Amino acid sequence: MNIESQVQLKPFNTLSLNSIASHYVKIQSIVDLQQALQFSKAHDLNVLLLSGGSNMMLPEHIHALVVAIDIQGIEFLSEDAESKTIKVGAGQVWHDFVLWTTTQQLYGLQNLALIPGLVGASPVQNIGAYGVEVGEFIQSVEVYDRQSAQTLSIQAQDCHFSYRHSIFKDDPDRYVITHVIFKLLKHADLKVNYGDLKDAMMDDMSAENLQKQVIHIRQSKLPDPNEYPNVGSFFKNPIIKQQEFSQLIAKFPNIPHYPQAGNHVKIAAGWLIDQSGWKGKQLNQVGMFHKQALVLVNYADATLTDVRATYQAVQKDVFEKFGVHLEPEPVLYNKLGLIENH
Ligand code: EPU
Repeated sequence: MNIESQVQLKPFNTLSLNSIASHYVKIQSIVDLQQALQFSKAHDLNVLLLSGGSNMMLPEHIHALVVAIDIQGIEFLSEDAESKTIKVGAGQVWHDFVLWTTTQQLYGLQNLALIPGLVGASPVQNIGAYGVEVGEFIQSVEVYDRQSAQTLSIQAQDCHFSYRHSIFKDDPDRYVITHVIFKLLKHADLKVNYGDLKDAMMDDMSAENLQKQVIHIRQSKLPDPNEYPNVGSFFKNPIIKQQEFSQLIAKFPNIPHYPQAGNHVKIAAGWLIDQSGWKGKQLNQVGMFHKQALVLVNYADATLTDVRATYQAVQKDVFEKFGVHLEPEPVLYNKLGLIENH
């Protein structure tokens, strides 16, 4: 284990923010992790867990130990007539893992192809796209519990998966995800009801084609972080009460919406931003993407301050027009490596 100092995190966060970490270490095992945690205690440093860096906003300087999770490996655990159970290291690249499951004729994750990041981050915000959320295919999550200093297995029902949320978001300083156990189907049960996915598949209703079309749709709408640094959807789609929604739809009949449990309605943040004139608009070097207004892009060498100025301007304009508050999706860190409210 090699603890480095003054490390530039720009290549490790997909928004490409300049951010110098006072201490940085890459860990490949639970033993490495324990050593890193001991180092942080001995030097009185907070720990910032770094996965694929595709859902974070970092300040220019961080005084903390950044722990990059690089635990690899894929292992078959068991199978029955319907499914196979697989244990995957938190450091595996998510998209490569999805492609691999398809070559193994294991089904469920195809709708989630091309999502940036690593496997270990997938349960944290319960990544979702095109009608599927990862929590549906997770059996359990293996963690190192920093409170009890031991490894634990948390069953899916105890992870409390919901839209872009899980217990790992509520208690970010407690668990370090080391492995994710997936239960994948041997026979495809395709979810093709999202938007124009079914039409895009034409007459080939195979899981392979579903994956291909998801990749195609994402590539046609979403910017490649290597070309346009971004963190995917920058805001969550707001979930509002039915009563509030009724007033909104009376004024704006075209608002895209999706009914939710418990008398709530989810509305499309991208549409709200688009209608507020922000699609393709920039402030300084940061703007909302011209093909999908929900994605914030760092067009030059923006800092966190620039990013904040843009997203707060978007929030203000959307609130003034629609009376709806947009909540950012990426996690915001302060200069001591701790998570802050937006
Ligand atoms: N829309 C506009 N203008 C825009 C963008 C969207 O009018 O600039 C409208 C669309 O026409 C559509 C609606 O808003 O009627 C929803 O748009 P879209 O289908 O593109 O999906 P989204 O709600 O913007 C969500 C996820 C994406 C996921 C897609 C597909 C969130 C925050 N985002 O986006 O996830 O890929 O659905 O399932 O839930 C991510 O989290 O990083 C992400 C990309």
